[in-house]
Amino acid sequence: MHPTLSVDPAAAVGSVDAAAARPWDDRLARRTRGRDGTLSAILALANVSGVINFSGGFPDHSIFPTEALHRLTDKLLHDDAAVALQYAPSEGIASTRELLRDQLARTQGIRPAESELMITSGGIDAITLIAKSMLDPGDTVLVEQPSYVGAVTGFATFDARVVGVPIDEQGLDVEALARLLASGERPKVLYVIPDHQNPTGWTLIEERRRALVEICRRHGVLIVEDVAYRELGFAESPAPSLWSLAPDTVVQIGTFSKTFFPGVRLGWAAGPAEVVEQMVFAKQNSDQCAGALGQRLLEEFVRGGYYDDQVAGARRLYRRRAAVMTEALTASFGDSRATWSEPDGGFFCWVRLPGVDTVELAARARDAHVAFVPGAGFFVGGGDTEHLRLSYSRVADADIPEGISRLAAAARLASG
Ligand SMILES: Cc1ncc(COP(=O)(O)O)c(C=O)c1O
Repeated sequence: MHPTLSVDPAAAVGSVDAAAARPWDDRLARRTRGRDGTLSAILALANVSGVINFSGGFPDHSIFPTEALHRLTDKLLHDDAAVALQYAPSEGIASTRELLRDQLARTQGIRPAESELMITSGGIDAITLIAKSMLDPGDTVLVEQPSYVGAVTGFATFDARVVGVPIDEQGLDVEALARLLASGERPKVLYVIPDHQNPTGWTLIEERRRALVEICRRHGVLIVEDVAYRELGFAESPAPSLWSLAPDTVVQIGTFSKTFFPGVRLGWAAGPAEVVEQMVFAKQNSDQCAGALGQRLLEEFVRGGYYDDQVAGARRLYRRRAAVMTEALTASFGDSRATWSEPDGGFFCWVRLPGVDTVELAARARDAHVAFVPGAGFFVGGGDTEHLRLSYSRVADADIPEGISRLAAAARLASG
């Protein structure tokens, strides 16, 4: 079918057949055509007011540091508008990069060289830049099974062949990875979220971290280490980052969405100079640079000592919510066959409800004004029916038990 170029004004207000009003559908690129999904439909429902919303990896807006931002923005506009309101270099503003290099040295024990660190417009941007820089159509990317939907779709959009590697309570199953590589699989990239993973909340143990970097180094596989939730651990000292163990084999990508605020759209990538340089080049024909105002704000926020307090407060809040959530799960599901992860950081609790179809359950839960994300979307190739992801990060403490109790009632109905 060819698109009709004349536009019927009635179609624009939705009064004619919907298919006839979508003449461009069959002209969409193969990489985006038909990608919509159950997941986005369910996520969209989550923003309906009056819903207890356990979907989406959103930080709680009540801890956004509005007063400090107000003061710092005033100061920047007064003293530094020529930089803060201007275009920035694609690799990031020099003083902000310097600050991030110092931060990495302080928190992870190694300092990237200038050519080994860039500023990105958040985590998804970093994933896209890696895909653009590393992948030709048909190249294989390994991901944890299950993994963060945004990354899986991000790689698939660049026509990669995405293959899942199992994960358990101790993180990526490194022996399964070794078997896959021994069987002749030749991936270019392995994407992994070692700390408080999305969607499971599980953390990769140190022994496996060391084995993982060795194996990938040996097989020439670039590890993309996503540390989106690393700073939000509930215990005092995290395991060493993969990048700190093998800066020659790992690109670490981070985001300030969960620790500062997502509206700033800022993150970083640190890794081998030749990969980071290519990512900087790729950024020139995407959004060209991360916003200068956000970069300077972040810099002042860290230099002013606010960032450490902000992260400490966020950890306290999410630790408390995780505890409320697991207590509520015990109270409402304790006498069933359900199992769930005990989060040690981050935003998520991963629940298994044997015998329940969690996509169906999402519709029932919606009727009870509760939202969550069914597990299927996190699995490459789908196939899962009995998992779901609960995010406790932005649900008020008092609403968590009520939401879980409604979910349990819906699950009882769903399992007949
Ligand atoms: C593991 C992981 N990486 C990256 C992101 C996206 O980060 P950003 O908002 O900076 O694009 C998310 C957000 O949910 C995430 O869970």
